[in-house]
This record gives sequence, C-alpha cells and structure tokens, in this order.
Amino acid sequence: MSCTSVVYCLERVLNLNDDYRQVFQVQGPSVLLMMVAGHTLLLPNRCPHQGAGLHNASLSSGVLRCPWHGIECALSTGRALNAPCANIEF
Ligand code: FES
Repeated sequence: MSCTSVVYCLERVLNLNDDYRQVFQVQGPSVLLMMVAGHTLLLPNRCPHQGAGLHNASLSSGVLRCPWHGIECALSTGRALNAPCANIEF
C-alpha cells in the first residue's frame, strides 16, 4: 500500500494568534490561513463570486466580507449570506 497524502507545514503554532492572516501558495491556487476566535481556518484565497483575494476581506462576528462587491460569507459554514453566490469551499 502506498501513501498518497502530502502534508505541508505552513506556520508554526506559536505564531498563530487571533487576527492572524497569511496567504500561502501550495501546488496551485493560493490559500488563506486565518485564526479567528481561537479557531484555525484554511480556505481558498478566492472569493466564490468573482475571485477577489479574501486576504483583505473584512471580518466581523464570524462573517467575512469581500472587498470587491461586498458578498458576505459565514466562516462557520462558508455559506454566502447576502447574495446568490457559491459558498466558500473549505
Ligand atoms: S469578488 Fe467577492 S464579492 Fe465579488
């Protein structure tokens, strides 16, 4: 049996704190590593609407607001809240 999983170390745990955000490029599209309210999140750094980078999105009460057109997505589910749009895929 062979192992096909690959593990990448993106950040040292001691560097993670609330409001941490960093973009990484790992074999393809960029990903956004965030820490929010003690939870570490890894998501595509791409708004599901038209692809804006989410690294500059505003964050309030667990809702990420895209800087381009203002679509808001719940970080708990990825669901778009204020417009018909695809969800963030975690
Ligand atoms: S690209 Fe994010 S809301 Fe349009």
